[in-house]
Amino acid sequence: MLHEINILAIESSCDETSAAIIQNGNVLSNIIATQKVHEQFGGVVPEMASRAHMQNIVAVVDVAIKNARLNKSDIHLVAFTQAPGLIGSLIVGASFAKSFAQARNIPLISVHHMQAHVLAHFIEDPKPTFPFLCLTVSGGHSQIVLIKDYLQMEVLGETIDDAAGEAFDKTAKMLGLPYPGGPLVDKYAQSGNPKKFPFPVSEMKNYDFSFSGLKTAILYFLQKEKLKDPDFIKNNLNDICASVQYTIIKILMKKLEKAADSYGITQVGIAGGVSANSSLRNALIEIGKNKDWQVFIPKFEYCTDNAAMIGITAYYKYLKGEFTDLSSVPTARASWHE
Ligand code: KG4
Ligand code: ZN
Repeated sequence: MLHEINILAIESSCDETSAAIIQNGNVLSNIIATQKVHEQFGGVVPEMASRAHMQNIVAVVDVAIKNARLNKSDIHLVAFTQAPGLIGSLIVGASFAKSFAQARNIPLISVHHMQAHVLAHFIEDPKPTFPFLCLTVSGGHSQIVLIKDYLQMEVLGETIDDAAGEAFDKTAKMLGLPYPGGPLVDKYAQSGNPKKFPFPVSEMKNYDFSFSGLKTAILYFLQKEKLKDPDFIKNNLNDICASVQYTIIKILMKKLEKAADSYGITQVGIAGGVSANSSLRNALIEIGKNKDWQVFIPKFEYCTDNAAMIGITAYYKYLKGEFTDLSSVPTARASWHE
């Protein structure tokens, strides 16, 4: 094992082209290029995402290495997101990583994107100790994960339909807001009344959750109200956003609390793009106070998609000697245990 290990990490699973340099588990740089091309389409257009990754990746990697004050020859290992994600986007990152590793004759480590969201908690202090429970909520996934060790995780429950981020984004779309709508719903909700419009909270088994019923309820609610007042959305935007957000958080927190109680866990965190939501962060802090939990919320930059979390995961895989060979291929869907 090397005394000093510099990892170049690449994340390209969706619409962020990101590269980071991790030195012995510390982030030296983390560059994120968010693709703006999708805004007008109300969602990520896969073909456009792949093309934008191809356009961005060389420059993003160059800046990451430069900002870390290193040269390409200082990189000892390349890490990349292997799954899950948009297949074309994943292939761009994986191909770049493999080419870089082959050209410099250095090893490769592939990383599971959702595992990396969880391990974003280990980028900065305070870091949780094990066992630790994490609600991982992004645009494509929503899971409650029990973390027994860095690379030993068990998904206790997950969404059976839409992800929490999709619930935010689809609500925003119904309200005529651009993609990604999550941050906008968050913004308008801050001046709204969360109890103004009550929406249903789904009842699922165990630790699973569902958002499709909520989505349909919002659609019918808006259709009905718009018949009475064509400007209903404009006149009530803040209250609608606050009410929907309140319901999404209630659905998530109910199950997180149940899992923490059943497993007797008092270290609880949130991760993934939706964990950037201000009310979700506050809800975790509030419940944490009542329950005497120690709560963990990564810095905003490490909540949404970023390569630093890929690099930190690769570092723990490196410590365990879990390398990947050049023949490994990315996959759009991947079970937790690869
Ligand atoms: O983890 P992420 O960056 O990408 C995926 O792996 O999907 O998550 C993106 C999701 C989007 O659905 C976006 O709307 C949501 O995270 N999001 C938010 C907020 N910031 C990002 N949702 C609610 N409130 C926010 N402040
Ligand atoms: Zn993500």
